[in-house]
Amino acid sequence: MISIVGCGPGALSHLTPAAQQAIDRAELLVGAPRLLELFPQLQAERIAVRANFAEALDRMAPHVGRKEIAVLVTGDPGVCSLAQPVIRRFGRENCRVIPGISSIQAAFAALGVDWMGARLLSVHAGKPAEDAAVFAGEGRIAVLTGTEVTNEWIVELAQRLADSHTAFVCQDLTLPEERVHRIAGSALTLASVPPRSVVVLLRKEIVT
Ligand SMILES: C[S@@+](CC[C@H](N)C(=O)[O-])C[C@H]1O[C@@H](n2cnc3c(N)ncnc32)[C@H](O)[C@@H]1O
Repeated sequence: MISIVGCGPGALSHLTPAAQQAIDRAELLVGAPRLLELFPQLQAERIAVRANFAEALDRMAPHVGRKEIAVLVTGDPGVCSLAQPVIRRFGRENCRVIPGISSIQAAFAALGVDWMGARLLSVHAGKPAEDAAVFAGEGRIAVLTGTEVTNEWIVELAQRLADSHTAFVCQDLTLPEERVHRIAGSALTLASVPPRSVVVLLRKEIVT
């Protein structure tokens, strides 16, 4: 069985007991180096996933059905993670998904704002096809960051919606260096969007 384990936004305090159990049971851990480093005490074999995750899946393949495998993902597996490529490759019947706390949940929690009905976007795998103006009617928008190039789309979005929305840059959530900045959309620049952050745009009447 392959467990696809949501590890939360970064701090071990935000790892669920179910996630910890699946990780403790695993004979093979697969994930980004930063996630593997969270568990230095475990004896399990490790496959580090870097940019080329197809290669990591190839290395995992001979172990499937032979070893307990835990694929570690940041946040929740249902939000822009390796979960779907793993399920497509090895079959839904061989995988179980263990939810984690998403950086999106952590961002709205840090702001003390509900996220029912929020529009969730990501520039992780590229800029969204839609023009930023399409989102003007949304009350709550959360955008996962990507590269410097794709983060430009977030800056454009914040600037387009500056009259109606306030921007919050939620950085390094749950970690000791966590910071949440409130910035007028018109003042948001690439420099104010660090790599590990969620940018939340809220209509001004939600945050008076
Ligand atoms: C590939 S996506 C994975 C999202 C993850 N599955 C989740 O549910 O949070 C990576 C993005 O998640 C966000 N992220 C992950 N950890 C974060 C943290 N501790 N603080 C702020 N944003 C975080 C950033 O936008 C980052 O670019």
